Amino acid sequence: MPDAEPGSKPTRPRAPLLRNWISLSGLLVAVGSLFSFLLLFVLDSAAHLANPYIGILTYMVAPGFLITGLFVTLLGALWHRQRLKAAGPLPALHIDLSRPRDRRILGMFIAASVCFLLISAVGSYKTYQFTESVQFCGESCHTVMRPELTAYEHGPHARVECAQCHIGPGATWFVRSKLSGTYQVYATLFNKFPRPIPTPVKNLRPAQQTCNQCHWPREFVGDLDRTYNYFLGDRTNTPFSVRLLLKVGGGDPTHGPVGGIHWHMSISNRVEYIATDKARQKIAWVRLTDPLGVVTVFREPSFTNDPSRYEIRTMDCMDCHDRPAHKFAAPSDAVNLAIALGHINGPLPYIKTNAVYALNRPYKTEVEARDGIATFLADRYPDDPRIRRVVPFVQQIYADNFFPAMKANWSVYPDNIGHRLWPGCFRCHDGRHRAEDGSRTIANDCTACHIILAQGSGADLLKLSAEGQKFKHPEDLYDPAFQCTDCHTGGP
Ligand code: HEC
Ligand code: HEC
Ligand code: HEC
Ligand code: HEC
Ligand code: HEC
Ligand code: HEC
Repeated sequence: MPDAEPGSKPTRPRAPLLRNWISLSGLLVAVGSLFSFLLLFVLDSAAHLANPYIGILTYMVAPGFLITGLFVTLLGALWHRQRLKAAGPLPALHIDLSRPRDRRILGMFIAASVCFLLISAVGSYKTYQFTESVQFCGESCHTVMRPELTAYEHGPHARVECAQCHIGPGATWFVRSKLSGTYQVYATLFNKFPRPIPTPVKNLRPAQQTCNQCHWPREFVGDLDRTYNYFLGDRTNTPFSVRLLLKVGGGDPTHGPVGGIHWHMSISNRVEYIATDKARQKIAWVRLTDPLGVVTVFREPSFTNDPSRYEIRTMDCMDCHDRPAHKFAAPSDAVNLAIALGHINGPLPYIKTNAVYALNRPYKTEVEARDGIATFLADRYPDDPRIRRVVPFVQQIYADNFFPAMKANWSVYPDNIGHRLWPGCFRCHDGRHRAEDGSRTIANDCTACHIILAQGSGADLLKLSAEGQKFKHPEDLYDPAFQCTDCHTGGP
């Protein structure tokens, strides 16, 4: 009886608490998962495998098992202790560092604790990093995030991590996002997520705290010169271009004249609004507070309700730039671009119309779409071998912008910049939002936001006019009494 001290009451020998089947199986699981963690960790760091599942295994599944194993071990030991206690009094625990055996045990205990703490520190840091990565956010949930990931990879923010916009810095939003993230992992596992994922995102962090990390709010953009190329749906796919000078301007008086489109972002103006639908596409009431504190309220004539019953939102970047990272091109725009780039062969008669039509037919799966597009176009041009070079480009447009499994495409995600396919700026600037004193409406003449430097095709595009031209719509049908969105949908 080496443990009993000389002179103490004779008691039963100390039975090792871990020697019970629950603790032993817990230990087995813990040691096993520790080894898998170490192996996976080496693989993940050394091999740079771009496989999202290895990340999930290393930083979520293995530590999960390790902790469960340790917990079960502890539980087993407690249970075992209870049983021993019931059988009679237990010997008191006595550590005596003069005994080599106790010194050895203590040393081993300290070494094991330090190792465990180190591994769990590295592990938690890596787990944290991993759950913030594009790999985890975009790639692991394959089907669910495919639409957003694909659009993101083609957008200007392809090198900005998902978490930079969706979470941002600081602890509170980190915890909030991890809580909702846990629910999302559950929803994905049990197939309980909505298709398409609804927009606007309910808990998106205010733009001031995300976008402004990189886009200095005082930045003065000035005027942007942009050319938009289109092709009509006629036999010759007639080209038509518009060259706009967009008056983006700025909102900070110390870095440039305040005005233009970014006037809304002026540090001293505040624009608030009420949207009567979830997608924020119908804006009925707008309140402007200028730097002197003068308040002007603009209303849509049909909105006579009491504003205090609605949620009032302060306008920020996302009310215009709502698709900075996930822009799904409308078929008509995507085909215009492909023709302009020479991917889709212009001389094929009616190719604009036919390509848009082929993209827009209902397909249940991507495979069905590939085949459907190929047969549809082949049927339209039975005697023209040039169509064979065009088909892969049309299929690629589909692959990049249509996601039947998630029911995601341009038609369910409004884009608030501009006004051609979605109401966008015209949600407020439609000439119908009148100040309550009747004095004015929110600006809506065609030169308030941009001037047309040139338009048409060929030589017309070289005739620049500094004061701007009147818009010459390419179709005679056009009537300025209608909004662009009354006729334009982005489809055929
Ligand atoms: C530049 C900032 C930015 C980055 C980077 C970014 N997002 Fe987004 N994301 C947004 C904004 C803005 C919205 C739309 C918010 C709204 O309309 O309310 C959005 C919306 C979404 C939605 C909701 C569905 C939709 O399309 O509106 C999902 C899902 C999503 N993002 C996933 C991702 C994933 C996955 C990544 C990384 C691969 C990512 N995001 C990277 C800004 C960003
Ligand atoms: C981590 C940094 C970062 C964050 C956060 C970020 N951006 Fe950007 N943004 C960039 C970079 C880099 C570019 C590309 C600049 C370039 O190519 O000139 C860019 C480009 C843009 C552009 C120009 C796009 C174009 O078509 O040329 C817009 C608009 C924009 N960002 C808006 C936003 C909005 C809105 C948010 C918040 C939802 C946001 N950004 C968040 C870094 C960021
Ligand atoms: C009233 C709508 C509106 C608001 C609000 C707004 N923007 Fe813009 N912004 C525009 C438009 C329109 C353009 C012109 C470029 C375009 O059409 O994509 C632009 C251009 C930009 C550009 C320059 C893109 C380039 O190609 O150089 C950046 C960067 C940008 N915005 C960032 C922001 C940020 C950050 C915020 C929030 C602080 C913001 N914007 C708020 C409408 C808006
Ligand atoms: C939520 C409503 C709302 C939306 C959406 C909106 N605006 Fe405005 N905008 C206003 C209000 C209000 C004013 C101030 C009108 C006034 O004082 O007459 C204004 C003023 C402006 C001005 C004039 C600034 C000056 O120099 O006086 C420009 C340019 C402008 N907006 C462009 C845009 C563009 C471009 C978009 C779309 C990308 C847009 N706005 C979207 C509410 C909105
Ligand atoms: C409130 C600001 C505003 C007003 C008013 C406005 N536009 Fe625009 N318009 C824009 C913005 C912003 C874009 C750029 C969209 C983009 O970057 O994709 C645009 C784009 C366009 C384009 C290019 C088409 C495209 O691809 O989106 C045409 C053509 C155009 N506007 C014509 C007009 C005409 C005609 C009027 C008068 C009936 C008008 N605009 C009034 C803000 C405005
Ligand atoms: C009364 C209906 C109607 C209205 C309103 C209308 N359009 Fe159009 N638009 C058409 C038709 C029809 C075509 C020809 C489509 C074709 O040939 O593919 C067209 C073609 C265009 C094109 C070239 C084709 C393309 O690929 O988009 C542009 C650009 C365009 N419109 C811009 C505008 C803008 C900007 C506005 C609002 C200021 C507007 N349209 C308002 C009916 C309309």
